[in-house]
Amino acid sequence: MLDFVRRTAAGIVCSAGLVGAAYADDVVMNLGWATPLDGDYGVLAKKFEELAEEYSNGTIDVKLRCCAQIATEDDAFKALQLGTVDGYFISQNNVSPHWDLMDVFVLPYIFQSGDHLVEVATGPVGDLIKSKLQEATGVHLLTFGGPGYRDFFNSERPINSMADMEGLKIRVPKNEVMLATFEAFGAEPVPLAWSETPTALQTRTIDGGDNGTSVIQEMKFFEFAEHLTILDHFAGFAPVLASDRFMSKLDDAQREAVLRAATEAGAYHTEIKLAEIEGVREWLANEGGMKVTRPDRAPFIEAAQKVQQEFAADRGPEFLELVNAIQAAAE
Ligand code: PAF
Repeated sequence: MLDFVRRTAAGIVCSAGLVGAAYADDVVMNLGWATPLDGDYGVLAKKFEELAEEYSNGTIDVKLRCCAQIATEDDAFKALQLGTVDGYFISQNNVSPHWDLMDVFVLPYIFQSGDHLVEVATGPVGDLIKSKLQEATGVHLLTFGGPGYRDFFNSERPINSMADMEGLKIRVPKNEVMLATFEAFGAEPVPLAWSETPTALQTRTIDGGDNGTSVIQEMKFFEFAEHLTILDHFAGFAPVLASDRFMSKLDDAQREAVLRAATEAGAYHTEIKLAEIEGVREWLANEGGMKVTRPDRAPFIEAAQKVQQEFAADRGPEFLELVNAIQAAAE
């Protein structure tokens, strides 16, 4: 009702010629992701929906499409480029096969702390990544969302040292940095699309994998893999991307509303996520029955540094510049 009143009032004002900037046509934004509605991405998506609708005076209708209804995460980036999907959550590691500079956010142990994660994602480096991505691919990155870490799980054995990784068949997203990292840790990484991962875990085609802590909870992976290892080796963000086709449908006021909603929803999500990580790990141990280990990280960090150096040397000066900027933001 309120919405109807607002729209009617806007219509009267516009037709009377009293304002220069009229509301554009109503726009629907189908916002997709590949995990459950009530999971971690859902928290950010619902906040974004609320704020984008409020700030656009109801002229943008955000429709939430969880659970890979409109695309799989591995297909979503191409669909955003084609404009067949309006918006989608794609973790940074699944963006890099389409734009490899994003791997600076995937490098193992590149982030030193929660504060560092937030500083980089919301500061000048994050802004630079957003503009470079848009320039290179046409895809808009609205927010990196709340940061956390990927935790490692497996069905075979507790990991008390890097030697325990030996020979484990570990699902990794189709990402070169992740593949190289698990190889450096001594495991046998298997690149696998997210859409095939739950089945591979249930049928024991793979021994384990890694995911954001809350994804392990919401996907009930603790039912299939009882060993949880906390390494904080990879950061996990919740990046929300939008197609240029969708963004071009918006007038200036609507575009501003979308960007403001994404920034504020990202900040809201950040606060929740950083505060909840240890609680979710405890839940996985107590309610989920997982056996948790926290091995000495020094050998993992040493192996990871070699991976960082290899990629910094291989990927060229633009990549190296961003790596240096991320490292400088920690100081
Ligand atoms: O593991 C992945 O492929 C991604 O992190 C996931 C779980 C689909 C979330 O974006």
